[in-house]
Amino acid sequence: MDQFPLFVTTAGRSILVVGGGEEAARKLRLVARTTAAVDVIAEAPGADLCAQCVGAVTLHRRAFSAADVQGRLFVVSAAGSPVDEAVAAAAQAAGVPVNVVDRPDLSTFLMPAIVDRDPVVVAIGSGGAAPVLAKSIRARIESLLPARLGALARFADSFRPAVKGTLPQAARRRFWEWVFAGPVAAAFLGGDEARARSTLIDRLNRAEAAADGPGLVQLVGVGPGDPDLLTFKALRAMQEADVVLIDALVSAEILECVRRDALRIDVGKRKDRHTLPQAEIERLMIDHARAGRRVVRLKGGDPFLFGRGGEEREHLLAAGVPVEVVPGISAAFGCAAATGIPLTHRDHAQGVTFVTGHAKADGGGPDWSCLAAANHTVVVYMGVGTAADTARSLIAAGRAAATPCAVVENGTRPDQRVLPATLATLGDTVAAAGIAGPALLIIGEVTAGVVAAAVPAARAAAL
Ligand SMILES: C[S@@+](CC[C@H](N)C(=O)[O-])C[C@H]1O[C@@H](n2cnc3c(N)ncnc32)[C@H](O)[C@@H]1O
Repeated sequence: MDQFPLFVTTAGRSILVVGGGEEAARKLRLVARTTAAVDVIAEAPGADLCAQCVGAVTLHRRAFSAADVQGRLFVVSAAGSPVDEAVAAAAQAAGVPVNVVDRPDLSTFLMPAIVDRDPVVVAIGSGGAAPVLAKSIRARIESLLPARLGALARFADSFRPAVKGTLPQAARRRFWEWVFAGPVAAAFLGGDEARARSTLIDRLNRAEAAADGPGLVQLVGVGPGDPDLLTFKALRAMQEADVVLIDALVSAEILECVRRDALRIDVGKRKDRHTLPQAEIERLMIDHARAGRRVVRLKGGDPFLFGRGGEEREHLLAAGVPVEVVPGISAAFGCAAATGIPLTHRDHAQGVTFVTGHAKADGGGPDWSCLAAANHTVVVYMGVGTAADTARSLIAAGRAAATPCAVVENGTRPDQRVLPATLATLGDTVAAAGIAGPALLIIGEVTAGVVAAAVPAARAAAL
C-alpha cells in the first residue's frame, strides 16, 4: 500500500480550501460535512462555492498567502497553477497535509470517494490510479448500505453504557454481533425503532444475555435467475448471513453474492428428486437460529408464491424462531419482462391468474372453468409435466383451442428459451422441446405476438 487510510478527528480543528471554481466547490461540499471550521480563500469565488459559505465555512475574497496554511488540520487546493504549486510548497514546508486536485505529484494525501452514513463512513481509494473506478465502487457500496445505517449506529451507541454495565467483556462482543446481525438491526432498518428497542432491552435484561439467543431466519426471494433482479434487501441479507440454505432454482451468479464465509447448505430439490425432506430443512433452520445464527433461506422467485414460504414461516414461528420474509421478483414477472409478454393488456387481458401444475398429492387442481374465459391470462408454474392435461382441461372448460400460449424456459437467464404454441399444440410443443430448466406456461391472448427465441428479447434487441 502506498497510501494508508486514516480517519482524522475534525472537531475543534480548521481546514483550508483554496480556489473558487467548480472543483473547489466539490471538495468544499465534502469537508463542510465535518465538524471542523473551514476557511475558503478565493479571489473570484463562483456562485456554487459562495452558496456553501455559511455556518462554520468562512469565505475570504483575497489571494492566498503562505501563512494561511499554519495550524490547519489539512489543506485542499483547487485553484489551478501556479497558486496550487504555492499552496503545496507552503503546506509541505509547514508539515501540513495537502491535497491538490488532479495533482498527485503535489499532494501528500489523496481524497477518497466517500459513502457517508455518519457516523459510519466508508472511504474508497485507488491511489489516484483510477478515480472513476473508485466512484463506481462507491456507487455499489451506496446501494448495499441501508440509508438508516448511521441512525442504527447512533441507536446502538445510546445503549453502550447500559451494555457495558450489564455484560462482561466477552459477552459484549457477542451481544453487539447479535444486535447488528439479528432482529434488532432488522427491525430498526425496517423502520420499527420501538420493536428494535424492546427486543434489545428484553435481551439485555435476561440473565442469560451472555449466552446464545434466538437468531433470525430470513426467507429471501432471489428472483428467477438474473442477479440484477435481486432486491437491495435480498443482497444485504445474503451478505450478512451466517448460514445459507440454497434452493435448486438459485442460479450460480446469485450464489456469488452470498457472504464468502457463510455456511452453505444445499437443500435444493426438484420435482421427484428431493435432496432433503421439507421437515429436515425446517429443522436445520430452527437449530441454526436457536444457536443465535442468522439463517437465510434462498428461494427462487418470491417466497410466498408457490415457494412454501407460508408453511415454513408458520413452522418457524411455532418453534419460537423470529422470521422475516424478503420478497423477490416472481418468475411470472421476470419472464414477462424478459420476453415482452405483458400479463395484462387493456385490449387482450383484463386479468391474470397464477396457478400451479403441481398441486399437493391430496389437493385438487385449479378450477379450470373459472379460467376458461377469453381475455384472461393464465400463468402455470411447475406445469411442464402436466401441460397436455392443462390444455385439455381448459379446452374442455370452453377456452378456444386456438388460444395462443408461450412456454418460457430459464426465463431471464442467458439460456432463456421461448416457444410459441396454441392450446391445441401446447402438450406436443412441450413434449418435443426437451425442457430441462424451470419453465412457465403463459396462456392467453397476450402471447399472440410471441415468436420462438433462444435469448431474452431485451438482449436480442441489443445484439
Ligand atoms: C417451486 S416454484 C417456485 C416459484 C417461485 N417462488 C416464484 O415466485 O417464481 C418453481 C417454478 O417456478 C417457475 N420458474 C422459476 N424460475 C423460473 C425461470 N427462470 N423461468 C421460468 N420459470 C421459472 C417454474 O415453473 C418452476 O417449476
